[in-house]
Amino acid sequence: MTTEPTKKTRKTSTIWGGRFGAGVSGVMEKINASIDFDKRLYAEDIAGSKAHCTMLAHQGIISPEDRDAILAGLDRVSGEIEEGRFTFDAGLEDIHMNIEHRLSELIGDAAGRLHTARSRNDQVATDLRLWLRGAVDEIDRGLRGLQEVFIDLAEEHAATVMPGFTHLQTAQPVTLGHHFLAYVEMLGRDRGRMGDCRKRLNECPLGAAALAGTSFPIDRHMTAEALGFDTPSRNSLDAVSDRDFALEFLGSGAIVGIHLSRLMEELILWCSAQFAFARLSDSYSTGSSIMPQKRNPDAAELVRAKTGRMIGALNSLLTVMKGLPLAYGKDMQEDKEPVFDAAETLIICIAATTGMLKGATFDAQRMRADAGQGFATATDLADWLVRVLKVPFRKAHQITGNLVKLAEDRGCGLEDLSVEEMKSVESRIREDIFQVLSVENSVKSRNSYGGTSPRNVSEAAAEARRRYLAMDGG
Ligand code: ARG
Repeated sequence: MTTEPTKKTRKTSTIWGGRFGAGVSGVMEKINASIDFDKRLYAEDIAGSKAHCTMLAHQGIISPEDRDAILAGLDRVSGEIEEGRFTFDAGLEDIHMNIEHRLSELIGDAAGRLHTARSRNDQVATDLRLWLRGAVDEIDRGLRGLQEVFIDLAEEHAATVMPGFTHLQTAQPVTLGHHFLAYVEMLGRDRGRMGDCRKRLNECPLGAAALAGTSFPIDRHMTAEALGFDTPSRNSLDAVSDRDFALEFLGSGAIVGIHLSRLMEELILWCSAQFAFARLSDSYSTGSSIMPQKRNPDAAELVRAKTGRMIGALNSLLTVMKGLPLAYGKDMQEDKEPVFDAAETLIICIAATTGMLKGATFDAQRMRADAGQGFATATDLADWLVRVLKVPFRKAHQITGNLVKLAEDRGCGLEDLSVEEMKSVESRIREDIFQVLSVENSVKSRNSYGGTSPRNVSEAAAEARRRYLAMDGG
């Protein structure tokens, strides 16, 4: 920490400095400034200022000459920032004051009229909503792309048999395509949540001013429309104090994160020598500096870990907001870092997941062999007893348990028992019971709506393609 507590840094140009005599301490400047992170709102800030300025002139609150000077000046500022020629100054606190200050250097007094009938409180709320709207749209595109990869894979692997797990114990055979389509559903809900968040965030706070509205004859509908918002926000206090939209984004993002993280956990397991179900491409694997045989799924581990950041971001902003009285409080400046970090993290995680899945290969033979292990078709056997011998399911469960025990004692699978051995447990068992013991027949038989049969999967993949790839999250 290099800040000198006693350093006085207030510039004579400080925008709110009119009533202050003494300078501000270096520590104060450092804790107060948000420019290091909110500079990424520059484009939204300029767009908001242009809409506001145009409206002010339209309403006769500023002159057309001032409007033209301001609009041209804002374009110059924008150009300077984009070309890296702009000097951001922590003494000017945030992006709003940095831009306004530069504007006044460029165009002089007219710049001072831009802040009529607005405050940084409604300005920052507008900027962040605009920024998040863009991020939500980008995330929706990413999630849609990932769904597409999953749907392609589901079609390819509609009939690939693998063990299905509950408690991470072999449960029943399923198809790999069915497993992939489970993620398509999760991502569909994720897109729905992001879409809901977008709908609610698309209200324009601009013109709420500091908290109470303004006495100038502004047209809030005009600014809202110019910025692509559905409506101006209806209550000025709420407009400047609300951060629900950021919380909704972080909540929705954290749920996307846990979905990706669960998938990564599976990929990591599947890529282990013990499972050996999957292999990541070289472009998404790393080697070990000491163990030459290693092929580490680092990208998957990182996506799993980065989910922690997204959950942290949500917790962080929830904690900032709880207990804040209306309307604006500087606490709310702390909304930006978690939002930016979570959005950036989510975007890279979705891209990495998409890349990993595109290049991954799945060992169908190995999965098939494993699907037959662990008495995976025991439920099929019990169902046969119910269907063919009309045994009540609970009784069938018991008989099957005895057969599993018998196979276990003999060290073989259910399908390796002879019909005589089976008859020693239930005398009415017949040869055709063996049909249900193959994993292929097992998955084929699970054709109830939403079930795992290859035919269901092919149909569900086609339906998912229609439903989700045409879906407009934005
Ligand atoms: N940098 C501030 C923020 O991000 C802008 C709003 C400041 N408003 C104020 N009244 N100090 O929240």
